Amino acid sequence: MIREYITWATYLAASVLFILGLRSLTKPDKAQRGMQQAALGMLLAIIGTLLVREIVDYRWILGGLALGTLIGYPLGMFVPMTAMPQRIAVSHMFGALAATLVGVAEYHIQGGRPPAAMMGALGFEVLFGALTITGSFMAFGKLQGFVTGTPVTYRGQNAINLVLFAATFGIFVFLIFQPYHPYLFLAMVALSLLLGVLMVLPIGGADMPVVVSLLNSYAGLASAATGFAIGNSVLIICGALDGASGFLLSVLMSKAMNRSFANVLFGAFGTPPAAGSGKDVSGLTVRTINAEDAAVQIAYARLVIVVPGYGMAVAQCQHVVRELAALVEKRGGEVKYAIHPVAGRMPGHMNVLLAEANVPYDRLYDLDEINDEFERADVALVIGANDVVNPAARNDPSSPIFGMPILNVDKAHQVIVLKRSMAAGYSGVENELFYEPNTSMLFGDAKESIQNLVTQIKTL
Ligand code: TAP
Repeated sequence: MIREYITWATYLAASVLFILGLRSLTKPDKAQRGMQQAALGMLLAIIGTLLVREIVDYRWILGGLALGTLIGYPLGMFVPMTAMPQRIAVSHMFGALAATLVGVAEYHIQGGRPPAAMMGALGFEVLFGALTITGSFMAFGKLQGFVTGTPVTYRGQNAINLVLFAATFGIFVFLIFQPYHPYLFLAMVALSLLLGVLMVLPIGGADMPVVVSLLNSYAGLASAATGFAIGNSVLIICGALDGASGFLLSVLMSKAMNRSFANVLFGAFGTPPAAGSGKDVSGLTVRTINAEDAAVQIAYARLVIVVPGYGMAVAQCQHVVRELAALVEKRGGEVKYAIHPVAGRMPGHMNVLLAEANVPYDRLYDLDEINDEFERADVALVIGANDVVNPAARNDPSSPIFGMPILNVDKAHQVIVLKRSMAAGYSGVENELFYEPNTSMLFGDAKESIQNLVTQIKTL
């Protein structure tokens, strides 16, 4: 009995820690603690599960733990920040694989005749688990570039997907009443795997982070169903938390990109449009600036607003950005960081990078908090950001990004843009900001450019 009590106590503690972890993750300064709370919760849940009396043999379990560590450790330690969305897609794939395998094994253990309620949970688990396996793998492929990032569309696509889903769901419902049909059970798994591929194919690479987050919620639901099927309360709780938070995050991300959720899933959006789409910029000139002149503007500014974007992640220049800010502050200037909700390639991407460089959290401002301040900023320093500062989103109803909330950097007295070329950002849309009279382009890798700025400011 004492073992059961310990298991229940660890499950309870784990569930509380998961909830506290999620809560902490909503604040950048508490996010690290949130991850630690969630990891501790997971450790307790594993310990509690290992004490369960029904376990008859630990060999497979220990093998699984070793394999999981072998896969998880390098994923956590060596994957660069820029590849985080892909990494997360892979994690969901493994989570869903685990849920599906448990479902298939449980069906087998029950001799193919689980009671109706259990079959309901098992079927749900296997259906959502299997489609998350292949869906996540496709998302991983699109983000990594070995599957085309362009939406793959064909006539009647949504109808075909819908019919397939209805057929799969039909088998699921049939099995609840007539479970002993092993081939149908396997057919349901196979159809779900196919559905995962077909559902992600028409979605463009740019929308993959939303898809990954939605698949996260499917993996969570599959885990919760696993919990019901095998009677494990902590799985039900953490699966439900995972499912709900993944779903909410997907909705929030769609909103920040000014897209309806349905449009992301069925709109075949996300193709980088042909180069030059958006405003015709032929005939407009671009003003370039060298590091010496840019350094003077920044060094003598009273307020500098740093606007980081995906390029900061690519250049990994967050540490030098902080060094630059320290120099400005030492000279009496003020530095603020403007964080767009979809800057970079995943939610909180910029916050994580800046936190890694120990930028104080109280200098980070959300779009709503900072947008009115650009007017009084002497310099807006745009570091590898593009779409999130494109005024076309505000001014040009014909632009594919029209309506997306942006950071109003063009309102600053001077705008200095750090990027390597005139290439477009993820949306593929031309950025008229680069041609504005108050904008100067400092071309080059952002890290090198900022290092040059630091060197120059030190000589002033
Ligand atoms: P982007 O619009 O993608 O632009 C990034 C810019 O960084 C590029 O124009 C690139 O120009 C520059 N860059 C790349 N490497 C660089 C380097 N080493 N040094 C200097 N510059 C470099 O980025 P953004 O403004 O952050 O916008 C994010 C985009 O991703 C939005 O369209 C958003 O909707 C989309 N998206 C975001 C998310 C989330 S949750 N964050 C999810 C889905 C989609 P060069 O090549 O000329 O250097």
